Amino acid sequence: MRGSQILWKSFRKELNSMMINRRTVTALAVVVGAWVALAGFWKPVRSMQEEAPINSLKELDEFFPPAQVCGSCHGRAHEEWQKSYHASALVDIATGFKKYISQVEAREGRFPNKQELLACFDCHVPALKFAAEPVVQQVARWVVEGNRPEMTRFNVGCAFCHTGAVTGRPEKNVVHGSIESAYQPEGIHRSQFAPKMRKADFCATCHQAYESPVAKVFCSLVFESWQKSPVRETKQCQDCHMKASDGVASDYPGSPTRVVHTHRFQGGHSAEMLQEALQLALEVGKPATSLPVEVRITNLAGHRLPDG
Ligand code: HEC
Ligand code: HEC
Ligand code: HEC
Ligand code: HEC
Ligand code: HEC
Repeated sequence: MRGSQILWKSFRKELNSMMINRRTVTALAVVVGAWVALAGFWKPVRSMQEEAPINSLKELDEFFPPAQVCGSCHGRAHEEWQKSYHASALVDIATGFKKYISQVEAREGRFPNKQELLACFDCHVPALKFAAEPVVQQVARWVVEGNRPEMTRFNVGCAFCHTGAVTGRPEKNVVHGSIESAYQPEGIHRSQFAPKMRKADFCATCHQAYESPVAKVFCSLVFESWQKSPVRETKQCQDCHMKASDGVASDYPGSPTRVVHTHRFQGGHSAEMLQEALQLALEVGKPATSLPVEVRITNLAGHRLPDG
């Protein structure tokens, strides 16, 4: 691989009223090519090699049903998720991804292959790691064409987090979750208890440095900073980003009241989260000729802030 370097900056998407205005500019560095050993730092996230990949978009929908299918029985989780960045994880990166595709094309003299495309899709549309190359390339072509209606169908969705992210393979009609013994009436999917969904490791796959044979990506390094923080002893990612409350896990008749978790996944774009993170102490010193002001900011987030 020729060691070329792609660097770009991306602006965060427009923030709505409840969020902080123009807060962050994400500087995003993707190094494509050279396999530079960075001793001890890397915990590579590898793409899965599928023996029998999913061959069509229709089949992809069967294994990973669109979120609104789940929403028919999980209204609340669906409503929250829809407002989260996970729900727009491809549309949001269209500009950067398009640029990446054209760089690979210029270098290789052909449209990127599956492995090259997974350098973005692995985290932004993770279900595609189980798909055959033509399916993956079709989605990439929609990005190049700027086809937003098609792009919005692809994201970090319910079915991926609740199947493939847990077991490493696609599954039909089974979901894995954090309910120990779920209510399982006839005619709905099977439910399996997956205690690891309560742990930071579950989020780590996508929220840490990434390395594959074709690319290095540094989109999110929160897992690494959480690991270095004393907070790791007391709080997992879920404790702060998926807060618990009482409710029903499903609207299906007969579902009991139990502890459920928000799927809003608020982060640095949320005023509420930032307020939680910052404790501002103003200490005004004795007035002399000027007024010395010391501002002390205590970081209560589980990692350094802001990320990126
Ligand atoms: C290891 C997983 C991973 C890979 C691979 C990855 N990303 Fe990301 N990306 C993320 C995560 C997680 C975030 C959110 C970071 C945050 O908000 O702190 C993100 C955020 C972004 C953003 C900022 C979006 C916004 O709304 O602010 C852009 C742009 C982006 N990625 C582009 C890309 C491109 C282009 C590629 C492929 C070259 C890529 N990413 C590969 C995980 C990844
Ligand atoms: C026909 C209704 C229905 C549909 C559609 C449905 N679910 Fe469920 N789901 C349920 C019921 C009922 C429960 C059990 C709730 C409880 O025990 O409180 C459940 C439980 C779950 C759990 C918890 C499992 C556990 O053991 O922790 C997850 C995760 C889940 N569903 C995800 C999904 C996903 C993802 C989809 C879409 C692919 C989906 N569901 C579609 C009815 C449905
Ligand atoms: C399959 C990959 C994947 C997994 C697993 C994943 N995320 Fe994400 N996450 C992303 C991507 C990609 C983005 C950025 C999407 C965008 O900006 O459009 C993101 C964005 C976020 C954001 C919003 C950040 C912001 O800037 O506001 C939070 C918070 C978050 N994730 C928390 C979590 C937590 C907590 C977990 C574990 C329970 C988790 N994520 C698991 C891929 C993933
Ligand atoms: C980024 C990964 C991710 C995505 C996307 C996601 N979930 Fe979850 N979900 C989790 C995690 C992690 C838990 C367990 C949280 C805990 O117990 O701390 C969970 C828990 C659940 C539960 C069990 C009840 C509860 O609230 O704890 C249900 C039901 C569920 N999710 C349904 C859905 C549906 C429906 C969607 C899509 C609209 C969805 N999830 C999208 C990660 C995800
Ligand atoms: C003690 C609570 C806490 C824990 C634990 C925690 N976070 Fe956060 N996180 C926050 C707060 C508060 C913010 C908002 C302030 C900021 O931007 O850092 C945030 C911001 C984020 C963001 C957005 C970063 C940005 O630049 O906008 C992501 C993504 C994220 N967290 C993911 C994670 C993941 C993944 C884990 C686990 C490895 C985790 N967090 C652990 C409290 C926590």
